[in-house]
Amino acid sequence: MWTLITGAGSGIGRALALQLAEMGHDLILAGRTESKLAEIAGQIGRDWPQRTVVTQAVELADPGSTHELAAKVCTVTDRLGAFIHCAGAGEPAGDLAGLALSDFQEALAVNLTAPLLLSKSLLPVLTGNDPSARVVMIGAGMDTQAQTGTGSYGISKMALRRLVQQLAVEFGALADGPLVSLFQPGLVDTPGIRDHVRKASALGLPHASWLSDRLEAGDCLSAEQAASALAYTLSDLPRSEFNGGVFRAGELVDSLSFSAS
Ligand SMILES: NC(=O)c1ccc[n+]([C@@H]2O[C@H](COP(=O)([O-])OP(=O)(O)OC[C@H]3O[C@@H](n4cnc5c(N)ncnc54)[C@H](OP(=O)(O)O)[C@@H]3O)[C@@H](O)[C@H]2O)c1
Repeated sequence: MWTLITGAGSGIGRALALQLAEMGHDLILAGRTESKLAEIAGQIGRDWPQRTVVTQAVELADPGSTHELAAKVCTVTDRLGAFIHCAGAGEPAGDLAGLALSDFQEALAVNLTAPLLLSKSLLPVLTGNDPSARVVMIGAGMDTQAQTGTGSYGISKMALRRLVQQLAVEFGALADGPLVSLFQPGLVDTPGIRDHVRKASALGLPHASWLSDRLEAGDCLSAEQAASALAYTLSDLPRSEFNGGVFRAGELVDSLSFSAS
């Protein structure tokens, strides 16, 4: 089964790529930095040589580059079993008044427009799969919690939640269309969140020290734990629960640990 992961070069997307390779998926890994994708493809090639991995550098803030990614996917396979949009953007700013318009536009482009464009363009290869293809967008708790300095990120993730609802309704009405859900990771220790904390600290934003304290105390998930929870939604959740569902990584990790104990 072929799976596309955006944001596969780092954090949750990277950990997911390794887990899905182990589970038997062939992978199209997309991200901004080709060298990071090549490193993961190399690791998969060593550990699971029977897997096929294709990498594609993409700038998801650029619709042209995003379309090129979709075209590439369609040349690799005519049946895409899963698409997970892990890439995320959202520079912190002192406040909305000081927010650079380009940062706001980048957050909307990467977190909202790119997953819409990819879902639309990939619909032909996401349709007609048996079992149904699964699409997962990565949301954020910030989508309903307005905090100083997180406007562009939170607003774009709120719109992403609405996009998931829309796609679940419209694709769900197709006879053999893909199923769509939202995955809420909670706090996960990744290069991305640590970079965010550094920038938010430099701006003196109130949530920076709260996040930093939780990361240092280990009061968060690892990227591997978040990826396991996401992989579970892809492979084990019944279709009736999956489509339009919102899944929280922490709750899934707790219930998976409980059922394994
Ligand atoms: N970590 C958390 O606590 C947390 C909490 C809530 C939600 N999330 C969400 O979870 C997802 C994964 O986050 P993470 O923490 O794993 O972040 P991460 O370590 O920064 O990884 C994000 C990935 O997205 C790629 N990316 C970013 N902008 C891109 C662009 N314009 N074009 C193409 N690729 C781009 C990055 O590529 P490069 O590495 O090449 O730059 C990177 O591989 C994001 O959607 C994030 O919003 C994370």
